[in-house]
Amino acid sequence: MFLVHLTDPHLVAPPRRLFGLDPFEGLDAALAHLCRHYADADLLLVTGDLTDLGEKAAYAALRRRLEALPMPVVLLLGNHDDRAAFRAVFEGAPVDEAGFVQQAVDHANGVSLVALDTHVPGAAHGELCAARLAWLDRALAARAARDVVIAMHHPPVGCGIPGMDAIGLADAERFWAVVRRHGNVRHVFTGHIHRTFFGRREAVSISALPGTSHQVHLQFATADVVLGSLEPGSYAVARLAPGQIDLHHVAFQDQSPRFVFDDASNAAAEPAALPPVPPPYDRLI
Ligand SMILES: [Fe+2]
Repeated sequence: MFLVHLTDPHLVAPPRRLFGLDPFEGLDAALAHLCRHYADADLLLVTGDLTDLGEKAAYAALRRRLEALPMPVVLLLGNHDDRAAFRAVFEGAPVDEAGFVQQAVDHANGVSLVALDTHVPGAAHGELCAARLAWLDRALAARAARDVVIAMHHPPVGCGIPGMDAIGLADAERFWAVVRRHGNVRHVFTGHIHRTFFGRREAVSISALPGTSHQVHLQFATADVVLGSLEPGSYAVARLAPGQIDLHHVAFQDQSPRFVFDDASNAAAEPAALPPVPPPYDRLI
């Protein structure tokens, strides 16, 4: 299973901007980049904060873009989203029997993706209520013989940035109790942190990544403020198989030169003097 993970586009209805940025610029650059390099991906996963204000016009603009992609897409809600507005625009989006935006995707290689809805209307933190945890319990029980990766907006672990940890997944231990009971969860893909982050709890690894627009500054000192930043965005590509996950972050906005390692003259060259990568390898860039 080859998965592309993208998160937190925070789209706003034009002509509104956000922190001086047009969030569509970052999203469009990411989508163009992944379509050029990873159009054969099995799945695009977008882990929430699809919009910044839950505007239907922003969801509609996102839908138009996603409909043009060559791969299926799994969308999650984040704290900035609006479940009703999302469902009104993405009327065919899978939901569970209670209307939460949750679904499971079973790949032929034995890996399953279980996507969870941690959205709490009007709140910044996330939550998995009894109904959502019961759905997760059933989803994991039905996949006892498979490797499961979970996707959710709010990380089920702290990242060490106090202001972000204060708005993480509430009662995360209830989530881990369900995961522990089944023993088939290998990894959790999250959003929300707007940074590169890797963690592990027991045998389960956790990854987060920068959003496609603005980011969160890394600081461990104060809980009363979360600092934003305009560091570059990235998306992730992951190869998933039973017993295996390989994950790379892709700096889709990077314009720095590429060069041939084995050319001795390149080792001494200034960046501006590096010769272009010759054919046929230039098509790999
Ligand atoms: Fe976000």
